[in-house]
Amino acid sequence: MAPSDSQAHVVTVALADRSYDVHVGAGVRSRLGSVMPDGARRAAVITQAGVGWTVDSGLDQTVFTVADGEEAKSLSEVERLCRALSQAGFTRSDVIVAVGGGVVTDLAGFVAAVYHRGIRYVSVATTLLAQVDAAIGGKTGVNLPEGKNLVGAFWQPHAVICDTETLSTLPSRELRSGQGELAKYHFLTGEDLDALDTDERIAAAVRIKADVVAADEREGGRRAILNYGHTLAHAIETAGRYDLRHGEAVAVGLVYAAEVAMRLGRIDSERVAAHRRVVSGYGLPGRLPTELDDDDDLLALFGRDKKAVDGVTFILDSDRGPEPVVGVPETVQREALAAIR
Ligand code: GLY
Repeated sequence: MAPSDSQAHVVTVALADRSYDVHVGAGVRSRLGSVMPDGARRAAVITQAGVGWTVDSGLDQTVFTVADGEEAKSLSEVERLCRALSQAGFTRSDVIVAVGGGVVTDLAGFVAAVYHRGIRYVSVATTLLAQVDAAIGGKTGVNLPEGKNLVGAFWQPHAVICDTETLSTLPSRELRSGQGELAKYHFLTGEDLDALDTDERIAAAVRIKADVVAADEREGGRRAILNYGHTLAHAIETAGRYDLRHGEAVAVGLVYAAEVAMRLGRIDSERVAAHRRVVSGYGLPGRLPTELDDDDDLLALFGRDKKAVDGVTFILDSDRGPEPVVGVPETVQREALAAIR
């Protein structure tokens, strides 16, 4: 059943003529037909078999199913999809509808950015990670063997649907991963997210991200704060071998960033405790996996982070909120690692 307006939240990502709405709430996928772009005649629905949710765009629609998992984010899949769209006669007046998690919204968004030099797309985000992060803000792209997200484009969707009913069927690890990104938003503004119910909290995270993206669409500055907790998280993920999902690694990274910030006198121990409290409140780890016992290895991986243009950049909390900081002494980095073991 469609939710009433009082149950759903609509957040606008304000980007002048590329502004769009994000609909958050239980059952909002029923709104899909009403958010289709004017003049769209056909919809190419891009999804994965494992997603388990179908949609009705209200248009003549064709479903294209891509490989399950992260393997779908490849240039060969982009070529395969573009050729299939072409063979099926899709044009710039049609619309792509991405249905799935971040893998699908990243891939389908990138196909939308490049097919016929750009067509409109709508994302129906079915995982918590996609709802609070990947589907919002127009970062699209695929992986190369050399690294994740190395080929992509900023291409904003026409609308985003975050139906919180879809979270009821998410595997628990997948939900935990999204909660790691959600935990991040507790520290980006002064807003008390603890006081909110799940749908309100997701809408609040979307609003915080929307405001950051509206202020800095192409990550010239402020958008980097969305990478709070990610310097260590990316190092953990790049190191591999450890069974941590992205958001779980972000959770450890948030506590690490707080420990670093405290050692630089930017925040006090109470604020560090707040980080630990929020992370453990989601049942997430605030400690490094025991196998990750080589500090030299982690410090080397910090230097390979995408933000490391002028040396390793950490996003660190302060009275003003998190901000990028370069030049964190190696002794501080090592002491903070000891504090999360
Ligand atoms: N996921 C970080 C960003 O969208 O900028």
